[in-house]
Amino acid sequence: MHCTVLSDRTILLVISGGIAAYKSLDLIRRLRDQGAVVRCVLTKGGSQFVTPLSVSALASERVYEDLFSLNDESEMGHIQLSRESDIIVVAPATADLMAKMAGGVADDLASTVLLASNKPIMIAPSMNTEMWNHPATQRNLKQLIADGVTVIGPGSGDLACGEVGAGRMIGVDEIVSAVEAKLCEGAVAIDAPLKGVRALVTSGPTHEAIDPVRFISNRSSGKQGHAIAAALRAAGADVVLVSGPTNLPDPVGVTTVHAESALEMEAACREALPVGVAICAAAVADWRPKAFAPGKIKKGAEIPKFEMVENPDILAGLSAAGSSRPALVIGFAAETSDVINEAKRKRARKGCDWIIANDVSAAAGVIGGDNNTVHVIDESSVESWPVLSKVEVASRIVARVAKYFLGATAEQDSQRTGA
Ligand code: C5P
Repeated sequence: MHCTVLSDRTILLVISGGIAAYKSLDLIRRLRDQGAVVRCVLTKGGSQFVTPLSVSALASERVYEDLFSLNDESEMGHIQLSRESDIIVVAPATADLMAKMAGGVADDLASTVLLASNKPIMIAPSMNTEMWNHPATQRNLKQLIADGVTVIGPGSGDLACGEVGAGRMIGVDEIVSAVEAKLCEGAVAIDAPLKGVRALVTSGPTHEAIDPVRFISNRSSGKQGHAIAAALRAAGADVVLVSGPTNLPDPVGVTTVHAESALEMEAACREALPVGVAICAAAVADWRPKAFAPGKIKKGAEIPKFEMVENPDILAGLSAAGSSRPALVIGFAAETSDVINEAKRKRARKGCDWIIANDVSAAAGVIGGDNNTVHVIDESSVESWPVLSKVEVASRIVARVAKYFLGATAEQDSQRTGA
């Protein structure tokens, strides 16, 4: 375990009755890995999906279930449960619990703790698409946002009920990042080594339009870039994330600019300058169709041929930005063979300071996956890290960036003082 913004923070996790409750077991483990104390409230519905025994085994704490249980109240009353936490996270948040929260209903332990809370509350909704889109749920959602509740997700995709659409609880990685970012807001931050540093991150793929309905793109999910933006924010930086089209929610506390194409991404990056550090994690398409057909290209006898032109290299452009060059420019090198040497050459060619090289051969399963194995290459060294989650890679990169800025400050101080 290492020191993070979650170290020794108490998170009250409310698990309500949705199929995504099984993911909350992993969430408990991940929050504890980061040093947090996790206390859990399990609703009656939640206990239909996960057992109190699994929850308490993973949390290493007893589970709170009953508002009127003498044991629960004598050991830790519902007011105390909320007072002794730094944040309350509801994951999964069902339509029913959201409705109770929006209406101020307090008829079980979870809803009572939430009503009695004076702490930040974050919810990760999870439900069937029709339930999510229902005007009642959308009304409740608006009310909860107006009440100051942070809502993360839901994502879209295949749902457990067999339908496809919005309603899937967002990933555990994103919940952990959002909790970190929330705890860093304002005075709650315990460790903000990058406070005062402006950071730019690019993330995700780009879409290069052929006609109004077709585009050229790649399989980048944006998970690594988004995790870096969240980790920079957690370290106190002022972050602009320029994101290509992804299915990920905007990280909490980060200024997110959405860009479709490489040209839009480049313009948004230029707009974000000056910054102290730029981290280019986006998988920018190398080429775009020379011409955009304003109407849908019709299928006919002739197979179309597209002339391509090269896209601007955003990383190389930032590295050569003269007086507006960020002090630290970091790129990624996704390689399928001779990873380290290819990445070294790429670092020199692009003019960036560090390059994070990763093996993206199909066997490594990096693209779209949750893990990454990287080598951090700077002017004089190659550091190889073990297989880590993308969130962990992000937090290590940010720790290295913080060390760079702390070192730079010490050097400037000693130059100023002549020490
Ligand atoms: O040349 P290659 O695409 O392998 O370089 C990867 C690195 O360069 C990544 O950091 C990526 O974000 C950046 N890049 C860029 N603009 C491009 C192409 C790549 O910023 N047009």
